[in-house]
Amino acid sequence: MQESLQELLRELEQFGAANDAAHAERPRRMLNITSDTGELLAVLVRATGARRILEIGTSNGYSTLWLAEAARAVGGQVSTVELSESKLALAAQNFARSGLADAITQIAGEAGHWLDSLGAASVDLLFLDSERAEYPGWWPKLRRVLRPGGLLVVDNALSHASEMAPFVALVAADPEFTTCTLPVGNGEFLATRAAA
Ligand SMILES: C[S@@+](CC[C@H](N)C(=O)[O-])C[C@H]1O[C@@H](n2cnc3c(N)ncnc32)[C@H](O)[C@@H]1O
Repeated sequence: MQESLQELLRELEQFGAANDAAHAERPRRMLNITSDTGELLAVLVRATGARRILEIGTSNGYSTLWLAEAARAVGGQVSTVELSESKLALAAQNFARSGLADAITQIAGEAGHWLDSLGAASVDLLFLDSERAEYPGWWPKLRRVLRPGGLLVVDNALSHASEMAPFVALVAADPEFTTCTLPVGNGEFLATRAAA
C-alpha cells in the first residue's frame, strides 16, 4: 500500500475516533470498521480475486478505501451505497484525496432500493455495514445479487451479536451458504455461496 494512502487511513482513524467520542447521535458518528477489519477485507478481496464489490454503508469512506485498494490490485472496483448526504460529501472528499476514485462508484440512495436495481449474481463480494435491523428483510435481495461462489462479509457480528442473531440464523439455515464468525475487529460474519 502506498505511504500516502496509509497516512490518509491513519488520519481517518483519528478523525473517526475523535468524532465518535464527541457525538452520541448515530447519524453524526462515522462508525468506521477497525483497521484490522480493513486488513481482513484487503486479504479477502485479493484471495478471492473479487472484482465486483458492493459495500452497503459508506459513511465517510474509510472501509471503502481498504476495499478499493485491494479491488484495484485485482482489476476490480467497488460500488458503495450511502443515504446520508453529509457522509456522501465527506466520502467524496476522501476518495478524491486517496487516488482511488477511479476504482470507486458512489451510490446516493437507500440500499434496499439499490439492491432491487442490480442484476442477479452480479456481485462477487458484498460488505454489509449498515442498519442491522434491516438485514433480515434485505436477505432475499442480498442472496439474489451475490453470485454462486461469492462472499458476504458483515461487520459487528460480535459487538452487536444479539442484534445480528436473526440475520445470522437466516443465512446459516440456508443450505447454499457456508458461514463462520471471525473474532477480528467488531466480529466479522462470513458467508460464502456454493459455486454453481
Ligand atoms: C456503520 S456506518 C458505515 C461505516 C463504514 N462502512 C466504514 O467502516 O467506514 C453505516 C452507514 O450506513 C448508512 N445507512 C444506514 N441505513 C442505510 C440505508 N438503508 N441505505 C444506505 N445507507 C444506509 C448510514 O448513514 C451510515 O453512514
